[in-house]
Amino acid sequence: DWTMASFREEMTAKIKDQVGDGRVICGLSGGVDSAVAAVLIHEAIGDQLTCVFVDTGLMRQGEARAVVDLFREHYHIPLVHVEAEDLFLSKLEGVEDPERKRKIIGGTFIDVFEAEAKKIKGDFLAQGTLYPDVIESVSFDGGPSVTIKSHHNVGGLPERMNLKLVEPLRELFKDEVRHLGQELGLPEGFVKRHPFPGPGLAIRIPGAVTREKADLLRQADAIYLEEIRAEGLYDAIWQAFAVLLPVKTVGVMGDERSYDWVLALRAVTSTDGMTAESYPFEHRFLSRVATRLINEVDGINRVTYDVTSKPPGTIEWE
Ligand code: XMP
Repeated sequence: DWTMASFREEMTAKIKDQVGDGRVICGLSGGVDSAVAAVLIHEAIGDQLTCVFVDTGLMRQGEARAVVDLFREHYHIPLVHVEAEDLFLSKLEGVEDPERKRKIIGGTFIDVFEAEAKKIKGDFLAQGTLYPDVIESVSFDGGPSVTIKSHHNVGGLPERMNLKLVEPLRELFKDEVRHLGQELGLPEGFVKRHPFPGPGLAIRIPGAVTREKADLLRQADAIYLEEIRAEGLYDAIWQAFAVLLPVKTVGVMGDERSYDWVLALRAVTSTDGMTAESYPFEHRFLSRVATRLINEVDGINRVTYDVTSKPPGTIEWE
């Protein structure tokens, strides 16, 4: 009889066995997978594990703080918090092409991570790779596969730094990782959080990213998610977020003409992120959210809802 409790026991034994008295470095993304991997590994080998959290400044509201507090204060897991917002924003300055944005963020992430990892002198690199990630990277016909979007991960770092990989979640699907997280005592709100892409808010700001736009989007996104939670819909949705469009339109606020940005709202249902359907919100819910966003977020005067499925659309806009 296979249960999460026995998986936890077997896996901690395996990790101990693999690592011996070596040192493990684990990059935290702020997401569920890397957090669950880190807590499991910490249970197995204690302070032989050091976590590195690269704060890109492109995360959701309150997210960086939540990760740091959870690991340092709650679990007492050694954590290096690198505040790199200025670096990421300066590298992204004026860059509009989606793939270039992704490459710049991925490359900068690796540079920052590598510099920290060198100081730690690790023997192993831990990753929260899941089963779908393992199969998605296999090309079935053996031919070159088409890259729709380059994914953000630590790339060739393990080879370059001569680190062996520790991937305790390789056999699990997302919902199993959430169960394991609960089993390990991660807070319910953390475990059930919607997936968030490595390149963060940068791929939800089509066109060039600025600090002002990132701040505006963070504020809008938080209001949208707050309304979804209040309506009791958060857990029924795979992912919900706002996108700040590079378009200004005319509106009227009081007696005055306004000329401000357009926000698109996205929410999808999915089981693995490979296909998705737009979530069928009730119209009155969307109207209420739109009113709040326009009243409370300075710089937005129009809100639209994205009804595209995947395929042909993707979940993220870039
Ligand atoms: P798309 O937009 O390709 O996204 O339909 C599918 C799922 O993957 C997430 N996503 C990413 N996750 N690094 C990640 O860790 C990335 O670079 C990345 N790009 C997209 C996306 O949020 C959705 O859940």
